[in-house]
Amino acid sequence: MQLIVGNWKMHGRLASVAIVEALVRAGPVEGVELLVCPPATLVARLAEAARGSHVAIGAQDCHPAPEGPFTGDIAAEMLADAGATHVIVGHSERRIGHAETDALVRDKASAAQRAGLVPIVCIGETLAEREAGETLSVVARQLAGSLPETGRFVVAYEPVWAIGTGRTPTPEQVAEVHAFVAARLPEGTPVLYGGSVKPENARGLLAVPHVGGALVGGASLTPRDFLAIAAAAPGAIA
Ligand code: PGA
Repeated sequence: MQLIVGNWKMHGRLASVAIVEALVRAGPVEGVELLVCPPATLVARLAEAARGSHVAIGAQDCHPAPEGPFTGDIAAEMLADAGATHVIVGHSERRIGHAETDALVRDKASAAQRAGLVPIVCIGETLAEREAGETLSVVARQLAGSLPETGRFVVAYEPVWAIGTGRTPTPEQVAEVHAFVAARLPEGTPVLYGGSVKPENARGLLAVPHVGGALVGGASLTPRDFLAIAAAAPGAIA
């Protein structure tokens, strides 16, 4: 079973419920789990639209605390209450744009589990790190520092230089990192690939050994593209 996740980032209005309605109408893709992670303002609305269907709804970030004096933050418990089942933590846009450390990402992942959510912990190297030959050491450090101690979680490998750029690593590069990551995780932990996944390259990326699905940004805003990516998963029957 592959997990195909849409990360809407800071896109989407109430009218965007039509995207989830289209995914629900299209019916399940056998062998694939679909998850849509909209901005927090839309979690409750989309969860209502997807209720009882094959589409799950998640969020993009959470605060480590269950509640408190944290203006502008959102607790994992609030996301669960709104109908989320998963939450992305440690996306590079937060690690870089909001100076999130491995320790903070781990606290957020543990908070997600406390609230009954499955955290999707993002890791990945920058272009400078890849060019310096540091990819595996960066990934190892992020795994050691940002994963929760126990419990269920998902990892997403997203090379920072592949996000939103149209550039993707070669299947060999993806295979190298995914084998390295899988060897450091409990058996059966899904490891997603993310970074410029499109209908045109999904089949090749999803067929790489140890790739358990995709974290899709831009292409997840178009139901046709998102469904085409899901249908490209090995073993998928649309
Ligand atoms: P992209 O984003 O598919 O637009 O490259 C992926 C992500 O940041 O999760």
